[in-house]
Amino acid sequence: MRSTLTINPNEEIGSLDDLYGVFFEDINHAADGGLYAELVQNRSFEFDGIDNSLYHPLTAWEIVRRRESEGEVYVSKLAPLHPNHPNYAVIQCTKAGEGIGLKNQGFNTGMNIGEELYYFSCYARTAKDVTLHITLESDAEEVLAEDSVKIKRGGWDYYAVTILPHQASRNGKLTVTLMEEGKVCLDIISLFPVHTFKDRRNGMRRDLAKMIADMHPKFMRFPGGCLVHDGSLNPEDRNSMYRWKNTVGPVWQRPSRRNNWGYNQTLGLGYYEYFQFCEDIGAKPLPVLPGAYDPHHKRIEPLSMLQPWIDDALDLIEFANGSADTEWGAVRAQMGHPEPFGLEYIAIGNEEVGEAFFERYGYFHQAIKAKYPDIKIINSASPFAEGKEYERGWESARKWKSDLIDEHYYEAPDWMIANYHRYDKFSPEGPKVFLGEYASLGNTWYNALAEAAYMTGLEKNARVVKLACYAPMLCNKDYVNWTPDMIWFDGYRVHGSASYYVQKMFMRNQGATEVAVQGEGLPAVINAIEDLSGKITFKSDGKMVLENIVLENLDTGETKSFEDITLNSKKKKAVLTQTEWANYRLSFKGTERKGTKGMVLYFAEKNPKKYLNWTIGGWQNQDSTLASSAPNGKESCLTQSLFELEPKRTYKFTMEVRGRMLRTLINGKECNQVEYKPALVEPLYYCASKETDGTVIVKVVNLQKESVRADIRILGETHLHGTVESISGNKREDMNTFYQPKLIFPKTSGVFGKTDTVSYEFPADSVSVFRFIK
Ligand code: AHR
Repeated sequence: MRSTLTINPNEEIGSLDDLYGVFFEDINHAADGGLYAELVQNRSFEFDGIDNSLYHPLTAWEIVRRRESEGEVYVSKLAPLHPNHPNYAVIQCTKAGEGIGLKNQGFNTGMNIGEELYYFSCYARTAKDVTLHITLESDAEEVLAEDSVKIKRGGWDYYAVTILPHQASRNGKLTVTLMEEGKVCLDIISLFPVHTFKDRRNGMRRDLAKMIADMHPKFMRFPGGCLVHDGSLNPEDRNSMYRWKNTVGPVWQRPSRRNNWGYNQTLGLGYYEYFQFCEDIGAKPLPVLPGAYDPHHKRIEPLSMLQPWIDDALDLIEFANGSADTEWGAVRAQMGHPEPFGLEYIAIGNEEVGEAFFERYGYFHQAIKAKYPDIKIINSASPFAEGKEYERGWESARKWKSDLIDEHYYEAPDWMIANYHRYDKFSPEGPKVFLGEYASLGNTWYNALAEAAYMTGLEKNARVVKLACYAPMLCNKDYVNWTPDMIWFDGYRVHGSASYYVQKMFMRNQGATEVAVQGEGLPAVINAIEDLSGKITFKSDGKMVLENIVLENLDTGETKSFEDITLNSKKKKAVLTQTEWANYRLSFKGTERKGTKGMVLYFAEKNPKKYLNWTIGGWQNQDSTLASSAPNGKESCLTQSLFELEPKRTYKFTMEVRGRMLRTLINGKECNQVEYKPALVEPLYYCASKETDGTVIVKVVNLQKESVRADIRILGETHLHGTVESISGNKREDMNTFYQPKLIFPKTSGVFGKTDTVSYEFPADSVSVFRFIK
């Protein structure tokens, strides 16, 4: 039998709606120093030790004193521009010369200055008229552009000038100086290219915005991530959770914020700009609001104080959709957008764990549905792909009839392959899946291949999975908080990872409706499945006493006892044994005498890069997780339950391996249970959809090391013709880099058939997307 993929465009599986979108979080300097086109770093002198212990009000600024000039430059708080901007800079020139003042180094190695127009602006006040000199300079202090602004005697006022450099530099700096005797107070010193994306004032960097827009995302989730819920409860705190009302209105009134990724957020890129950007790229906005709960620090708003948080959600919907005569619609209109933004989705919470969040979620849900029944509300399913907190999220979503629930997982590529059928068993009734953050752990071609295969599984389950977006999206190479990422950039360059091109191919070729595709006669793949025997090792960073250690063979009943082990600062790791058994139970008593993070039990270790582990306590001492090793020293979490290890208390820990089933017990009570699924490669991964004009799209991923020839047959067609866009010919470990930005890149060619069938050779390790025109 010939290998055939038969597509029946008349057999509709489900509407694809807004399936493929993007997720924007200000992580890795994705906003300030990234998409937000502001070139000045620390423009309002608000950098602070709360944001990052290395920060101070003059971070990224240098005091310059040029020939003959004398005087002082300092930061003051007396009579500021706005209470939300307590700091400003003072330049006092006591002896005229070639200039005393400040030089800003921008982000990365400097500002990318081209021979194009820039807006310089600042707020200033002075007791006596002075001239502020502005220069754009190269690293070597060559002048690229210069201008000046007369600052008039009086209180705070806004000054702006347009500058055209006559020379370019990738490491440009901005200086503001006084050359005459006098004193000036300066705040929000800003430099933007005039031509931002769509030429918006306070807008986005063109090249980065274009990379995002080029994907044609159907939606954009923002502004985070952990960024949303990591913070204090008081919206006026610099350290507060992300409260959207702080991010709208005039930029000079928006407070500075601690970004939990270890830097400062100006909030210049705020909710209005997010909505505007979504509109500009044709993506539906999908904001995420905090649920009055910070799981990282266990900050919980009492129920009696919940109303302002709920009001934030209701007011946000009004801000986005209300007419210009509503309170919040008027704010939007005043900012320049009288028409509504057409908000359809709102998410409450991000990766929430613990009953406290879910208790609060119900109040948000009811209030939003009562006032805005058509808004789709998204609940949260923890940061784990399985386990008790994941289940808790789903229970809540079913209870409240959430429209969608946000699942997150960052996993090994093999996990993606092993879990290809994850959504096949999900019910199309009830809450739908929003896969709001996912990635396979790495930026290689193999990672992107695994994601592509997995995405065909998402798409086939269009009735269950309604939204999906890769995460994180942007990474400034000089400020990396998290890898892998989809788009990499620095001050002047940008390139897409292999995953970017896969996402782009899938997004631009989503289609409107998923249709049936049947694979027949495809050659079977021989998959080797390893047992879970191997080395067993204990590890702890504190002091952990392990007693009564027994390993039992679950096939024969044979047992082996081991001597007690003490792990401490001198001996952090202890190898217990190397077992050949495939089905076994390990039990021991454990007491944490010192430390706060518990311990890790490694098992099924085949080599240092291939193992499973059970973490008891962990990062926040709040989890019990089972994980497998992943590339680049990362780990892929298989399942999680809440567990807090009490110091000095003795527990009985048990871990069972039965084939691929893993189970843990603490004091006799089941804690985790999961199947560690083997990565069984399918002959081909495929799905098909159609556009409203009848174009049929077929996506095929070959994860095999050999090419596969197969026919593509579209029922009802007579002369198949169209295009195929494909990526192939790369090594699995290949990666796009700044030096080889298009090493992994799709190529397009034509496909023609004289009948309803074309025959195609799917290269080894390839992704192919066909568009057959009606
Ligand atoms: O995408 C990076 C981070 O991963 C997000 O902030 C968070 O939601 C998740 O843990």
